[in-house]
Amino acid sequence: MPAETAKLARAFAAQHDHNPRFIAEAPGRVNLIGEHTDYNEGFVLPVAIDRTVAVAVAPREDTRVRAHSVDHDQRDDFSLDTARRHPMGGWRNYVRGVLWALLDSQLPLRGVDLSISGDVPQGAGLSSSAALELALSGAVCAASGIEMTPRDLALHCQRAEHMYAGVQCGIMDQFAAALGRKGCALFIDCQSLETEDVPLPTGLAIVIIDSKVPRELADTPYNQRRRECAEAARALGLASLRSADESQIESLPDDLGRRARHVVTENARVLAAKAALRDGDCATIRRLFAESHASLRDDFEASTPEIDLLVELATGAPGAIGARLTGGGFGGCTVNLVEAARAQRFGEAVASEYRRRTSLDGEAYFCRAVDGMKVHDA
Ligand code: GLA
Repeated sequence: MPAETAKLARAFAAQHDHNPRFIAEAPGRVNLIGEHTDYNEGFVLPVAIDRTVAVAVAPREDTRVRAHSVDHDQRDDFSLDTARRHPMGGWRNYVRGVLWALLDSQLPLRGVDLSISGDVPQGAGLSSSAALELALSGAVCAASGIEMTPRDLALHCQRAEHMYAGVQCGIMDQFAAALGRKGCALFIDCQSLETEDVPLPTGLAIVIIDSKVPRELADTPYNQRRRECAEAARALGLASLRSADESQIESLPDDLGRRARHVVTENARVLAAKAALRDGDCATIRRLFAESHASLRDDFEASTPEIDLLVELATGAPGAIGARLTGGGFGGCTVNLVEAARAQRFGEAVASEYRRRTSLDGEAYFCRAVDGMKVHDA
């Protein structure tokens, strides 16, 4: 058993006075390209990363849920019949939200004891919440003897996010946490929900730089952007911006037109980036990342001065191939594709120059692409 998992099993035993039965683990994600396209039925290209949330679980004979966050040193205790929103918010709402979504589908859940621990940075745009949701749903279903595909678990987790976290997110984060593949990016067509593994070229490394300007998406204009996109689609007489083209957009008022232009051009960039990754075409990747960032900054207005600075610093750094804002935006991280041999130097150079210029504690994370959620015996 890996050291981290063994530590979680010990923390479970100390909290609940017996051993766990299963441990479920799910990864965070970094999105290579395709931002704010998922809820517009478009294309995305995320990678599941080797930062995970793990949930240790054992079934109970009654309908109680005794939950324990090892990292926060906090507890929650409630009955499945009353899995209502917890007024304290935070991690407890994700636990209750996921249970609510599963119960709402009439699944025969058992009461459980559970302990949670993880190393996905929170509020950084790396989907710590989707990782928690997937690990939790996998753990609770295993403890209840319910078999569900990772894809169905992900759809339940998305509902939990909508209802309990108040974020009208798309499906990207939950699909990446459920269906990611080692060594690959996950291409998702968010209209058909078909996915495809896209192998990452050897010799390319993913470096994430955290601006350390944290945010919860529920407190940002994320939902407003989603509404603006829906309004733009309605004005064009379309079900979603997926089927819009650039010429139609000119008829929209300025703000809506810029939001829609981001989505339409970003979808085209995802398809081009998928091909460029397959061909190992670094010049095209560099251009697409730069265009994606500019579009998020100027048309979608989802960047911040700190994130713009990180992208600018990356451009001249050793081994840089492409840099852009990743995730929902309004803070968080940049994703950088870098020549593997120079990844360490790149990360250190960008993070230290950023710290010098801003006095913020910017940090580089060196990540590998890993498999999605797994459950094993404890
Ligand atoms: C957040 C949401 C995703 C997606 C991204 C932006 O991560 O959870 O569904 O919309 O923002 O691409």
